[in-house]
Amino acid sequence: MNTNNSVVVTDQLESTLTSSISAFPDDKLFLVTDQNSAKFCLPLLCEIPNIEKFKTIVIPSGEENKLLSSVEKIWLFLSQNGADRKSLVVNLGGGMVTDLGSFAASTFKRGLPFINIPTTLLSQVDASVGGKTGFNFNGLKNEIGVINQPLQVIIDTRFLKTLDHENIISGYAEMIKHGLIHSQDHLAELRKFDLDNPDYRELQGIIAHSVLIKNYFVEKDPHERNIRKALNFGHTVGHAFESLSLRNSQPLLHGHAVAFGMIAELYLSRLNSGFADGIMHHLSQWLISIYGKYQIAASDYEALYELMGHDKKNEGKRINFTLIRSVGEVEINRDCSKEQVFEALDYFRELNHD
Ligand code: GLY
Repeated sequence: MNTNNSVVVTDQLESTLTSSISAFPDDKLFLVTDQNSAKFCLPLLCEIPNIEKFKTIVIPSGEENKLLSSVEKIWLFLSQNGADRKSLVVNLGGGMVTDLGSFAASTFKRGLPFINIPTTLLSQVDASVGGKTGFNFNGLKNEIGVINQPLQVIIDTRFLKTLDHENIISGYAEMIKHGLIHSQDHLAELRKFDLDNPDYRELQGIIAHSVLIKNYFVEKDPHERNIRKALNFGHTVGHAFESLSLRNSQPLLHGHAVAFGMIAELYLSRLNSGFADGIMHHLSQWLISIYGKYQIAASDYEALYELMGHDKKNEGKRINFTLIRSVGEVEINRDCSKEQVFEALDYFRELNHD
């Protein structure tokens, strides 16, 4: 299933990758992966003719390794193995690997082509698509990076079978976001899907739909000067929840934080963009039924508000919200007062009370 000429959603990545690498010399093929993906995902590539020709680097797993030092290791590996402009870099793994490997490829000798093979739902529907690359720096997430589009993204849903429920629903939050900002139909198919007994064939079609929506915004505005900010829905409050949970040593998965952020931002959408009250409530209950309750205290509000002020998408002092008028109708660059943000946090807190 082709979502456009550069993203393929399949359950047979072998044939797609075989044809994509045929344009590159055998001795110019490089694979970047991490320990977990090397163990659980690399075996799927075994059927590919010439797979043994790939020169492979395995980097340590985990967000704590998404650092310049890992990028340096990849640059050194490319350099010592004769990579040049005729080479191809294939990144196999979750968002950490595709972000780091894409950045290393984008900057080595001013840029090598790269293919992403994302192995988690979160990276399949978000991180590996859209050309954002980079690493964490000075304690800040994705502080250094460039936007550079991959030659191809190959999404194989067989990888999802080894993911646990929490990681499936984490990726699912970004798909729900795509539905909320762009498509009633996508939201409806997500609401129907049985997350407790996933049918992976059905999920494949839904992922393709979600990626089409992401690509719609990326193609209109690859460098996020305007409408790509639509993809930030749920993330201003979500990133604040994510950072607070880290500080409290009870880290939330990214998608869970975004899901909770969407509840607060649905409320802000009701206050500022006329989003219907009943639908807001209904959607919030649905999100809680998937992600469970997450308790915050009124004493967290100032810290959360301060964290929202650090979001990369802000301009100057202004906190920049993406809101929705209705499902599928998005508004970017919306201002909300501090009182409104606190009111949205009140709504969230009350909803999550036992
Ligand atoms: N993760 C949102 C974007 O790629 O713009």
